[in-house]
Amino acid sequence: MTMAVRHFLQFSDFSTEEHEWIFQRAAAIKRKFKAYEKYHPLADRTLAMIFEKASTRTRVSFEAGMYQLGGSVVHLTTGDSQLGRAEPIEDSAKVISRMVDLVMIRTFGQDKIERFAEHSRVPVINGLTNEFHPCQILADIFTFIEHRGSIQGRVVAWVGDGNNMANTWLQAAELLGFTVHLSTPSGYEVDQAIAGIRSSESYKVFADPMEACRGADLVTTDVWTSMGFEAENEERREAFADWCVDADMMRVAKADALFMHCLPAHRGEEVQADVIDGPQSVVWDEAENRMHVQKALLEFLLLGRVTG
Ligand code: CP
Ligand code: NVA
Repeated sequence: MTMAVRHFLQFSDFSTEEHEWIFQRAAAIKRKFKAYEKYHPLADRTLAMIFEKASTRTRVSFEAGMYQLGGSVVHLTTGDSQLGRAEPIEDSAKVISRMVDLVMIRTFGQDKIERFAEHSRVPVINGLTNEFHPCQILADIFTFIEHRGSIQGRVVAWVGDGNNMANTWLQAAELLGFTVHLSTPSGYEVDQAIAGIRSSESYKVFADPMEACRGADLVTTDVWTSMGFEAENEERREAFADWCVDADMMRVAKADALFMHCLPAHRGEEVQADVIDGPQSVVWDEAENRMHVQKALLEFLLLGRVTG
């Protein structure tokens, strides 16, 4: 009997307890990294990274992380592989997964990564789709825990687009027991069915972004226009004008509220410079933590629960 291959295609692919494990391992792996301790559990293992959209953080964090764990990477893009010349995704999955131990994909529709995973012999990780960005939310929650302790029972204010980040926050809230205050312009709401959550218990909707931020432990936002939606740029600029996180929004949040942004950011659009570059912002820790949580994820998917 063959064991089913585990994938991380959305946040809810892991149980609450598995997420807690990943956060613990990320802390241990980060300590080793900071102490310059060699840790090579993935020696001779290879990660294929497939990018159909641009990236800085995802590319660097997976590539550096895999090398630090003793493994190696193969980097593919639509433009320089047969993926851009209409080779079926199923065939690509069968071929690539015979040669590597893990695959990370950044692409457009979630259906594409699901089809790839269905035909892959090895674990597949979502490095961002139109619907989800689970590795980013792992990093965000790990960062929250480092600064403020458990996220259980806390309030996360989401100001902006009902996009891949917002959907993933909702999945995380349901699994980890916190509440999301959602404020999106009209026409850009989160769709509960697309977000893939069971109920509306873990979130509240606010027409006014200021009200969403009131009393929040964490205020977070993202670009007005995600990758793949560039044609809507102008209409989004108009619709999102009031969804800019500023000092007033941070003032109505808790006194020790944190600010996060997955980056890249546009100062003066979704966030003012004095917030993202201010004392409550933890965006650089958040970006660095992509690497630490993903190393824990790679370890978990390939080796299960290792200690030490
Ligand atoms: N936050 C994030 O995923 O950044 P990149 O697009 O640079 O990978
Ligand atoms: N929502 C953004 C996140 C970028 C990391 C996008 O999909 O472009």
